[in-house]
Amino acid sequence: MDESGRRFLDAAGQAAVVSIGHGVPEIGHAMAEQSAQIAFAHTSQFHSEPAEKLAARLLALAPANFRNGGRVYFTCGGSEATETAIKMVRQYHVETGQAERYRVISRRQSYHGSTLGAMTVSGNVARRAPYAPLIPEWGHIAPCFCWHCPFGKTFPECELACAEDLETFVREHQTETAAAFIFEPVVGATLGAAVPPEGYVARIAEICRKHDILLVADEVMTGMGRTGKPFAVQHWGVEPDIILVGKGVASGYVPLGGVLASARVVEAIEGGSGAFMHGFTYQAHPVCTAAGNAVLDYLEAHQLFERVDPAGKNLREALSRLESHPHVGDIRGIGLLLGVEFVKDKATREPFPKSENIAEKIRQAAMADGVLTYPMQGCVDGHRGDHILLAPPFTISEQECALVAEALTSALRRVLPS
Ligand SMILES: Cc1ncc(COP(=O)(O)O)c(C=O)c1O
Repeated sequence: MDESGRRFLDAAGQAAVVSIGHGVPEIGHAMAEQSAQIAFAHTSQFHSEPAEKLAARLLALAPANFRNGGRVYFTCGGSEATETAIKMVRQYHVETGQAERYRVISRRQSYHGSTLGAMTVSGNVARRAPYAPLIPEWGHIAPCFCWHCPFGKTFPECELACAEDLETFVREHQTETAAAFIFEPVVGATLGAAVPPEGYVARIAEICRKHDILLVADEVMTGMGRTGKPFAVQHWGVEPDIILVGKGVASGYVPLGGVLASARVVEAIEGGSGAFMHGFTYQAHPVCTAAGNAVLDYLEAHQLFERVDPAGKNLREALSRLESHPHVGDIRGIGLLLGVEFVKDKATREPFPKSENIAEKIRQAAMADGVLTYPMQGCVDGHRGDHILLAPPFTISEQECALVAEALTSALRRVLPS
């Protein structure tokens, strides 16, 4: 509700953050209770019960290689999680006698955060551009984006050329210095919920194993149930070495992120120097992790993980009425992470010129009808390509899905009359 009392339907979970809905009082109560006991204890000397508990619960939700001997490093958000992972993979290689490995390879058209290390691995052209002189180049491979395939190919005849790009890149660019590969299993903001085709994630994991490169799944947006499983990699049965969480881990109630380290990574550091050379004052904050536990309690008590798949299908079904619009190019995604791409020419998939600012205009028009969406530009080449992201709370009802579709239909009528 805004200051004038106007109510909005949050179809974007703000930025794919809010999973349990706004204004759930239990979360604040849990935070107050923790704060009344102890709000802060420095992790150089103390563990706290809520952080230990949340770590164990996240590891239990993760793939099998995290469950016995995995650990969690809590941060204050996604960018800090990416920074932590970059240092963690570096230390892993130092501890295992491969000190020459430091480069974290990533993909073009991806986003891993806004701090300098996170920008180094990000491939989002617009967000990197002003800071280019500050950012080292560790190597970016092709995105996995079937609707605008960077190779101009079609699945399955493409034989996963975008995954093979990692193999070629690693072979041709100082294999001995490659430390890790980081990727968003479903590319969120940058590509508007681009889901990889069958076999992609498994092939990427295979290439990483072959070259002794750690696999880091950035699940800051896709994790904690957003795609219908606790972590998106679980759709493809892949076990990364590290998983990043943020956003949904506390549903926006507090700033919280985390790095899930698998047993392999933990053992290397424990069996080596014994300590990860890293730290933030506010890591594993007792009040934030208490909020994380309360959010997870709520998700479990209301069986909200289980709601994502059917609710996502309802939303997708409601959006199908947009498909016939001449400027709706593609509706894609998985679970409650959906994207709608707007194109100038449906037959050629040609985007609108950037200056027309279509995604933002759609956002404004939908907001005028009381529905919040997340607009982005650049999915085609970093500059052109307009889409909105839909990532509502898992509580979204069938009626609310219909309202979202109605608001978008009306927004399209006003912004792009056909
Ligand atoms: C996939 C991904 N990684 C990392 C981040 C950075 O997280 P934060 O904004 O919490 O620092 C984001 C934020 O949008 C994201 O979508």
